[in-house]
Amino acid sequence: MKLAVIGTGYVGLVSGTCFAETGNQVTCVDIDESKINRLKSGKLTIYEPGLQVLFERNIKQERLLFTTNLEEAIKDAEIIFLALPTPPGEDGSADLSYVLGVAEQLGKMITDYKVIVDKSTVPVGTAERVHAAIAANAKTEFDVVSNPEFLREGVAVDDFMKPDRVVVGTSSDRAKKVMEKLYNPYVRQGNPVIFMDERSAEMTKYAANSYLATRISFMNEIANICELVGANVDFVRKGMGSDNRIGQRFLFAGVGYGGSCFPKDVQALERTANENKYEFNILSSVMKVNERQKVVMVDKIKSFYGEDLTGKHFAMWGLAFKPNTDDIREAPALYIINELLAAGATVATFDPEAMENVLEQYEGDDRVSFEENQYNALKNADALIIVTEWSVFRTPDFEKTFSIMKDRVIFDGRNVFDLEQMEELKTYYNSIGRQAVDTREKKQVPQEA
Ligand code: UDX
Repeated sequence: MKLAVIGTGYVGLVSGTCFAETGNQVTCVDIDESKINRLKSGKLTIYEPGLQVLFERNIKQERLLFTTNLEEAIKDAEIIFLALPTPPGEDGSADLSYVLGVAEQLGKMITDYKVIVDKSTVPVGTAERVHAAIAANAKTEFDVVSNPEFLREGVAVDDFMKPDRVVVGTSSDRAKKVMEKLYNPYVRQGNPVIFMDERSAEMTKYAANSYLATRISFMNEIANICELVGANVDFVRKGMGSDNRIGQRFLFAGVGYGGSCFPKDVQALERTANENKYEFNILSSVMKVNERQKVVMVDKIKSFYGEDLTGKHFAMWGLAFKPNTDDIREAPALYIINELLAAGATVATFDPEAMENVLEQYEGDDRVSFEENQYNALKNADALIIVTEWSVFRTPDFEKTFSIMKDRVIFDGRNVFDLEQMEELKTYYNSIGRQAVDTREKKQVPQEA
């Protein structure tokens, strides 16, 4: 099939590339000329594991094209995807000016039947507004479909190629047939394409993300109580998750959720509720809990050292909001760094991918440094703080770690180490929802001769 994808941000690039991978002819279009030139030359503008190979292959085989010319991009396309930014406006609501602006242009440009698909996360009712914006000028038939994406950063290619489900909101049979054909190769293993009306599709995206965020905030509160009553959240999670009604996934306590979706979508759904004079009590708490959880490590650090951290120096492993991404949007690490600085401390950080994105914020601030590897960050550190659970942090050389650090103290915001393992080491280890381990004074049993 011939497709056009408007907007070459994260969603546009992953979708465009993955649509090309199953043999579709895809033209991606963006107003940013330097970005398009970069993409044309085979260079990706985002970091996403596994995407580069597919991207290069499809460019080489001329199934994936890039242009700044919207009219040319959509001319022969059967389906046009809108993957445009919807940043929060001044009042916190999604700014639809990009989406509606393009819709208006499309109205003037289309000369034959097109299916126009909303891929961005947009407030309920947007498909109707897009329809109206196109219809204002259109001289031909068209349908507007809502098709929210559920990609997770870091595993987006897999999520796209083998989705749990595809949600398609349309009230047109003609559009339904087109979308069925498009997604058929991706759901061969039996996962469903779920058809519904446009408003329900738009709502599904907000409901799914808000529910997942709720699970996380719930587990973070369970973890905080576990610490108070002497329980271990790892056991509690396993015990709970083995109930099929609950399930094992997405029950990990930590330093709160971040990223480009959860914080924004939870807030947007609460707003939609308020606009409809409905008080969404659970969501207000989900956000409140998350705000508090982001700095829970700072509270732990302060109860260990006292409120004033002047002269204390910390190593921080992890800056990205989660592993396998360079994304630092709403990343708990940034909140933690700022709280530590405000209390007088200095921080040396390391992240395998995200450092470049953070550098700018601390330019000229010698209280924060960015190190070449995880061990360099440990130099003279009073304590190590783990904020993102990158695999490379899971099995460090502890001998080396402690020989570089000033003190054998670890605050782990992602529970990357087993408690038993830490009990074997001479260390103070404080994690989430588990009792602190303090074996620094452990007597070494003399070896028998
Ligand atoms: C999310 C949704 O999962 C995806 O469907 C949607 O399209 C976009 O938003 P993403 O933001 O990429 O994806 O990350 P995800 O893996 O869902 O994690 C979100 C946040 O929750 C991260 O900060 C992560 O650390 C945190 N998290 C996740 C937990 O704290 N505990 C968990 O058990 C799972």
